[in-house]
Amino acid sequence: MTLTDTTTTVRISIELELDRQTAFDLLVQELATALERVGIQFEGGARGRVVENGVEVGRVVSWKPCQEIQLEWCPADWELRHPTRVELRFEPAGAGTKVMLEHQGWGHLIGGPQELAGWFTDQVAAPFFRATAPAGFGDWLTDRRARRPSGAQARSVYGDPLFHYPNFRVILAELALTRDDYLLEVGCGGGALLKEALGSGCRAAAVDHSPEMVRLARQANREAIDAKRLEILQSKADCLPFSDEIFTCAAMTGVLGFLPDPVAAFAEIRRVLRPGGRFVALGSDAELKGTPAAPEPMASRLHFYSEQELEGLARSAGFEQVQVVRRSLYEFAREVGIPEEALPLFAGPGATFLLARRH
Ligand SMILES: C[S@@+](CC[C@H](N)C(=O)[O-])C[C@H]1O[C@@H](n2cnc3c(N)ncnc32)[C@H](O)[C@@H]1O
Repeated sequence: MTLTDTTTTVRISIELELDRQTAFDLLVQELATALERVGIQFEGGARGRVVENGVEVGRVVSWKPCQEIQLEWCPADWELRHPTRVELRFEPAGAGTKVMLEHQGWGHLIGGPQELAGWFTDQVAAPFFRATAPAGFGDWLTDRRARRPSGAQARSVYGDPLFHYPNFRVILAELALTRDDYLLEVGCGGGALLKEALGSGCRAAAVDHSPEMVRLARQANREAIDAKRLEILQSKADCLPFSDEIFTCAAMTGVLGFLPDPVAAFAEIRRVLRPGGRFVALGSDAELKGTPAAPEPMASRLHFYSEQELEGLARSAGFEQVQVVRRSLYEFAREVGIPEEALPLFAGPGATFLLARRH
């Protein structure tokens, strides 16, 4: 970073073991998703732009796939006379690609070098340290992989979550859905359980707080959505966007351990269930901690519950009829085609499931 007023440049870079085409496409896609999460829209292409709060803050002036993107940038809406420049450049680096992000010519908006140094430490260096220290890094990995999945790897995993199918089979067996059911799934991920559930002829709705998972689940269940048998909304588990007493049943799998307030989520699920409505949820067993089902850094960020604790959560949420059962996953694991070498993961006493019903 050069601490002179009008030529200030901030530059960050990373080297990726990807060819330039792949690096370019991936960066554009990831950037659009990451900016969306902080309320900024990024539209790529030669006539692309960046919009914050309905105001255009960036305009593409050069779009050269595999090489560079240049944006005319307006960092200050109170100072429109001096647009600045943001560049994203892609250069060969060994067998891979060096990606550089650069912002030039905006130091005069801040003031003298002391203020510039303050901006740099506060807005660039401190977030960098937070992102690379254990708490922030572990949180990011946990969110990215499971707590709020995003990115190409998560889309591929949750589009076809083979290792979750045994849990789905238990849940579907317990729910015994019919055409008359109206199912709610909370934390639907890529929508694979919904797809199986809809085979019963039931109607369904689902929520997930990850926008990418909502998109993926909608793609996977496009036909049912078009036929008005299914809706999938972006929402948090403890604030469901549905009226009271509309669902006949509800399911939740692979979500409980991530919930900051499971009683609030269970109470919401109970609220939207009709009297007599049933709820099946996969537990969050402490013995999974540190295994491939709950590896670090997820393991130390998940909440685990004993059978008694799980029952207590459901009762505290108001469920009148509550049972926690253990179900073997092994036969289901064989049935769904888990590779032979991974089958031992599904042996043992099985997983806990909450079976609850409201009066
Ligand atoms: C490990 S994934 C499981 C996805 C899917 N149920 C499955 O078994 O394949 C956890 C999912 O729960 C969602 N989730 C976690 N906490 C949530 C919350 N508080 N509200 C809504 N969704 C949540 C995540 O976004 C993610 O899609």
